[in-house]
Amino acid sequence: MSPLRRELLLGATLLAAPKKPAHKAPEVSPAEDLMREHGVIRRALLVYVEVVPKLRQNAAAIDAAALQRTAKLFRTFAEDYHERMLEEQHIFPTVRKMGPELARYADVLIEQHNRGREITEYVLAVTNGPKISTGHAEPLARAFEGLDRMYENHAAREDTIVFPAWKKNFSNKQLDELSDQFEEIEHKMFGKDGFEDAEKTISGIESTLGFADLAQFTAPPAPKP
Ligand SMILES: [Fe+2]
Ligand SMILES: [Fe+2]
Repeated sequence: MSPLRRELLLGATLLAAPKKPAHKAPEVSPAEDLMREHGVIRRALLVYVEVVPKLRQNAAAIDAAALQRTAKLFRTFAEDYHERMLEEQHIFPTVRKMGPELARYADVLIEQHNRGREITEYVLAVTNGPKISTGHAEPLARAFEGLDRMYENHAAREDTIVFPAWKKNFSNKQLDELSDQFEEIEHKMFGKDGFEDAEKTISGIESTLGFADLAQFTAPPAPKP
């Protein structure tokens, strides 16, 4: 059989065969991985932000345990894994060598990671009981506002400046290898499904606090100009 005919037959067989599940799930590129982690982190921050007016109105009515779970997720998933194991080990050391502007970014971003850790420590401490004491209500509201403002700026710069710069240092093959390496770190820290579990955790917290329905956040109609 001519090679061409064999190829045509093989092509026909492939077309006729029922679709088998892919052997391996499509790769999540390292930058996509980091950015979807930002998605989970942002959802934790959104929980904090939604709680701020409630803290100022009636702190005793807030489910302190749900905030405690949010802070624990922030600690394990954002601070210990995403920041310490990925960004501080892999991303920042590489971009630091790319010039003074990126080196300065690395410095500030690390400073902000550390400030975030201090704030999380505080959140963990004041949400440890059944209720948030009135004395902690305003300081906690301010801590949430400060963390949110910092982290929204932080993650947006990482997504648009730092991660794209980092990526430029590697070929596609190298990025594939890094993706496997990141996955290995994730498995080591959380077992099989670090991201999936974190997503489930934040979904559960949103449900408990009444934030699950996305439609409630649709903006009101714009005023007439
Ligand atoms: Fe970061
Ligand atoms: Fe980040």
